[in-house]
Amino acid sequence: MQPRLIVHGGAWDIPDEHVDDHVAGVHKAVKTVAPLLEQGMSALEAVEKAVNVLEEDPTFDAGRGAFLNAEGGIELDAMIMDGSTLDFGCIAAMRNLLNPVSVARKVMDSPDFRFLVGEGAMRFAREHGFSELPFEELLTERELSFYNKIRNNPEFNQIGAFSGKTPSDTVGAVALDEQGNLACATSTGGTPRKHPGRVGDSPVIGSGGYADNDTAAASSTGYGETIMRVVLCKTACDLTPQNGPMDAAAQSINILKQKGRGYGGLIMIAPDGRYGFAHNTPRMAFAYADGEDVVAKICS
Ligand code: GLY
Repeated sequence: MQPRLIVHGGAWDIPDEHVDDHVAGVHKAVKTVAPLLEQGMSALEAVEKAVNVLEEDPTFDAGRGAFLNAEGGIELDAMIMDGSTLDFGCIAAMRNLLNPVSVARKVMDSPDFRFLVGEGAMRFAREHGFSELPFEELLTERELSFYNKIRNNPEFNQIGAFSGKTPSDTVGAVALDEQGNLACATSTGGTPRKHPGRVGDSPVIGSGGYADNDTAAASSTGYGETIMRVVLCKTACDLTPQNGPMDAAAQSINILKQKGRGYGGLIMIAPDGRYGFAHNTPRMAFAYADGEDVVAKICS
């Protein structure tokens, strides 16, 4: 099987001045990880590594560069899923970590649980050797100044962040390895000025990501409260065998708009290696491997 890798860096307006950073960020994730997939890396390892690259890039709302919540803190959510077993790991509302998706990957190996949140998730991360970073190492000037602008602004609302000019850069990756196994991973800082403890779609399997070797794998981005209404990624995967990944992606985004009254985007891979992507936000940043080339773009 020819390996495949597709990543996204969020679906929102992406003003012109942010286009180059977004294209460079998603390009780097594919350029770094696609050769490893070609050398036999598993899809599960590949999605974790690709999301790590995006989490470390301050451009995106994940790991370093995440939005600040209503109290001026950073809380991170992530998930990872293996399409060969339907096994998964999820974490939510974690602080002071650069690579929350790697904690989710570790959770997946636990004999007892698959989803940890808050202080319990932090304790698990410490027990498994993850180093905590000072808050300042995740914080960017950009997000501090954005927070100061919106913190007391009664006009600001969450859904406006996804339909208009406010950033929403959740990141995600979907891979197919040479064994024919699919996997997905998604990581986010959530929504700007979110309530402390608020958890969106990204760490919720079926909504923020889904992977099943028999149907497809997908990772989403957008307004979590509406994505969860339509279980976006599972919906898209279920539509793929009948419709192909490109139509399945478009149909599921239409369902998000019509039934979920929401905004977002998603990337997909079918078991035969075809890519799918769609969004109903003004723009979405994504990149995929095309043989030895990387196609990285902002689609409008
Ligand atoms: N999709 C990111 C969030 O709503 O948290």
